[in-house]
Amino acid sequence: MIPYHGHDILIKNAFLQGQGHVFDHWNTLSEEERRDLLEDLSTVDFELLNRLYRTAKGPGVYHGDFGPAPFIALPCHGGDAAEFEEARKAGEAHIREGRVAAFVVAGGQGTRLGYDGPKGAYGLGPVSGKSLFQIHAEKIVKYSKKYGVRIPLLIMTSPDNHDATVKFFQGRGNFGLDDRNLLVFPQSMIPSLDGDGKLILENRTRLFKNPDGHGGSLKALRTSGVLEELEERGIETISYFQVDNPLVKIIDPVFIGFHVLRDADVSNKGLEKTGPGEKMGVFVLFDNGRMGVVEYSDLPEGKAAETGPEGKLRFLMGSPAIHLFRRSFVEEITSGPSRGLPFHVARKKIKAWRGGEAGEIEGLKFEMFVFDALPLTAKSIILEMVREDEFAPVKNPDGVDSVESARRMMSELALKWLRERDIPVPPSVKLLEISPLLAVGPEDLGEVCVPNCEKAYLE
Ligand code: UTP
Repeated sequence: MIPYHGHDILIKNAFLQGQGHVFDHWNTLSEEERRDLLEDLSTVDFELLNRLYRTAKGPGVYHGDFGPAPFIALPCHGGDAAEFEEARKAGEAHIREGRVAAFVVAGGQGTRLGYDGPKGAYGLGPVSGKSLFQIHAEKIVKYSKKYGVRIPLLIMTSPDNHDATVKFFQGRGNFGLDDRNLLVFPQSMIPSLDGDGKLILENRTRLFKNPDGHGGSLKALRTSGVLEELEERGIETISYFQVDNPLVKIIDPVFIGFHVLRDADVSNKGLEKTGPGEKMGVFVLFDNGRMGVVEYSDLPEGKAAETGPEGKLRFLMGSPAIHLFRRSFVEEITSGPSRGLPFHVARKKIKAWRGGEAGEIEGLKFEMFVFDALPLTAKSIILEMVREDEFAPVKNPDGVDSVESARRMMSELALKWLRERDIPVPPSVKLLEISPLLAVGPEDLGEVCVPNCEKAYLE
């Protein structure tokens, strides 16, 4: 045992938990390094980690049996147009009353994109080069003007990219948002484990940890105090989206209207999967009557390929991770120690410092997924959306779901809006971009003239 000024219990407990190996290099550490290691260790929830390790070795997350979830179809697919109009009105009223906040999750590590910095700082605009953060923030500025109301933007970062994110906004005048309406807070981290359930050192004094998943966002809303702040401001609906989707309709009156009129705890956008192999979770109804999302990797191939009467996939509705949360529901599921979302485990390559050297091992990473809130709801709805209008995820530098495809989709959507408004586009134009400050939908385009050039930017 290593006696160390008042930290004996912490050290003893680490040994008792079978994690004494983190002190293997104790004698070579300086006083400061020892304090760093102990501080890191003091945040570890051993009970949780032991439980997660046991379940990681077991059969995994059990979903029970399930069928496809019902959804509200678009009018072009048989939905009731009058109902959509009614929803739009109800949604607009809710927005104008100041009941809605926007919430972007930006704590991910963006491994696939491989960009050195917060993913939101990536310059994506096809013509302007505007960052994802700027695109989102300017949409909020525009929505606020359009509906004559302040709409707070909540940003969840991770301890790894928090400071860089705050600096990014501050250095650019918050892109027009006032400080009071920009709330930035980090999510929690959770240690990864090696195949034998042992903590992994990232370097001499630090444990390897990863952000606790987008599902950690609900807990982070509470622990940051933001949930309370929202209540004080009279916010009832939290509009959740991912930082890497430049097309997202952050404030969508129709979606919000359905959410309010149907009295849902959580509402979800859904879109037709491109095929059984698309790597996207699908909405399901479990045999206990609860709604949920089953990850593509958990959907048996046979089920994924099943077709219905019209030849369409039976599990048709994929989740683009666009949700509305009732604030009081988030409060409810994040209160009390035993409530909250389950952790999923993934086997991934992890940078590890072993035997005095840096290397890589296969380890277990734990993450919560936000859609695991669905089975906890009393009522949840799915609204169908058009993929090209709202979803262009930036996951990879090129290929599927990439910078390249997202830029192309932004340009195509701009063209679609102009066509809808009968605004002529010169044939020279190959790439188009519309500033969110000008329009967040075709209805905002007034008298605009598209310049006769290859790359046109409308602002
Ligand atoms: P992804 O799961 O696609 O992860 O996140 P990622 O970090 O963007 O990219 P990879 O997988 O490392 O390549 C989807 C959304 O959830 C957020 C991300 O920032 C993104 O907006 N997220 C993910 C968090 O906020 N925290 C997390 O712990 C994980």
